[in-house]
Amino acid sequence: MTTQTQAAPEIRKGLAGVVVDTTAISKVNPETNSLLYRGYPVQELAAGCSFEEVAYLLWHGELPTEVELAAFQRDERAQRELAGNVRATIDSLPKSAHPMDVVRTAVSVIGANDPATADSSRSSNLAKSVRLFAQLPAVVAYDQRRRRGQELVPAREDLDYAENFLWMTFGEVPAPVVVDAFRVSLILYAEHSFNASTFTARVITSTLADLYSAVVGAIGALKGPLHGGANEAVMHVFDEIGSADKAEAWLEQALAEKRKIMGFGHRVYKNGDSRVPSMKAALDTLVAHYDRPDLAALYDNLEHAMVSRKNIQPNLDYPSGPAYHLMGFDTEIFTPLFVASRVTGWTAHIMEQLEANALIRPLSAYNGPDERHLA
Ligand code: ACO
Repeated sequence: MTTQTQAAPEIRKGLAGVVVDTTAISKVNPETNSLLYRGYPVQELAAGCSFEEVAYLLWHGELPTEVELAAFQRDERAQRELAGNVRATIDSLPKSAHPMDVVRTAVSVIGANDPATADSSRSSNLAKSVRLFAQLPAVVAYDQRRRRGQELVPAREDLDYAENFLWMTFGEVPAPVVVDAFRVSLILYAEHSFNASTFTARVITSTLADLYSAVVGAIGALKGPLHGGANEAVMHVFDEIGSADKAEAWLEQALAEKRKIMGFGHRVYKNGDSRVPSMKAALDTLVAHYDRPDLAALYDNLEHAMVSRKNIQPNLDYPSGPAYHLMGFDTEIFTPLFVASRVTGWTAHIMEQLEANALIRPLSAYNGPDERHLA
């Protein structure tokens, strides 16, 4: 009897290059270095839209009319305050806890409070998406404030999303140039097809688990420094380097130690991240506003050294880290800011997954011991 040898299965580590499904939410094209949200170039959205308009676009597929936007804003502004047990849970967590752990826990409590958690209809999931969108700024702002020994600042319904977020964090609405840079960052972070955290949300949704569970899982995936945690890590790198004149030597040493340089490289973009020019322009306005040429010089020197040494370009986290620093956010709060933005993309994908769901369950190639038996 002849035994047929089976061809070894092709293994794509990290699912690199694997197309697992279709999506109508965004298109990343590394060849043309473009990113479209529902067909619109992200640069155009960043230049001309509010974050509320972009959230609406991601969820509904079209930008809102004036009437639709007004209704959405009323709904969102009315839900900005946290329930007592969400605040109490945040208060109960040690200040040593990473803010990503706090935001992940807060979303769990918001979900547990919702009597409609198990309702997976589109209308219910849309309502949940708006609730998370409205309440995440309060979670993130309150967490930064309590760490600084400051009281919670009540939300203001007369302010738009970006203004209110900054108001709740700092107790004042900063100069328009700062609000604008923040708005741009939120739009650029909102959506990026099947990145690790979005894919996590889709995997969880594919089991028919609820939207909050999918968002909690996505937050966990975003925390890692190879993904969203990089914006925080960039600022730690800047602190470690200290000043622009030390950037090149620092990079040599870091590369010799085989360290990954945070804020550089991308799984999909190999010739530069399409979102960087818009965020770099926003960073430049902040550098001028706060008069911090030293920070700009460090930024430029490290980028120049990395590109000439490795030909690896910066990703969005590279300009957004120092931009959030200049705005006054604590370094550990940077990735929760990413959460507050990306929750729009995650929830759009959760709803899209449910429209034509198939359980996501890949195969693996076993490489453990051959079958054996207890003696
Ligand atoms: N620093 C040093 N070397 C790098 C970097 C980097 N940031 N990025 C890629 N490389 C090198 C790798 O060492 C590898 O070199 P080798 O072939 O000699 O071993 C080669 O480039 C390919 O890199 P991989 O890690 O295999 O590429 P992958 O597509 O898996 O990684 C990733 C993409 C994880 C983003 C990577 O570039 C990285 O770790 N970057 C730093 C973390 C970061 O900034 N993450 C943010 C991502 S974007 C976002 O979330 C908004």
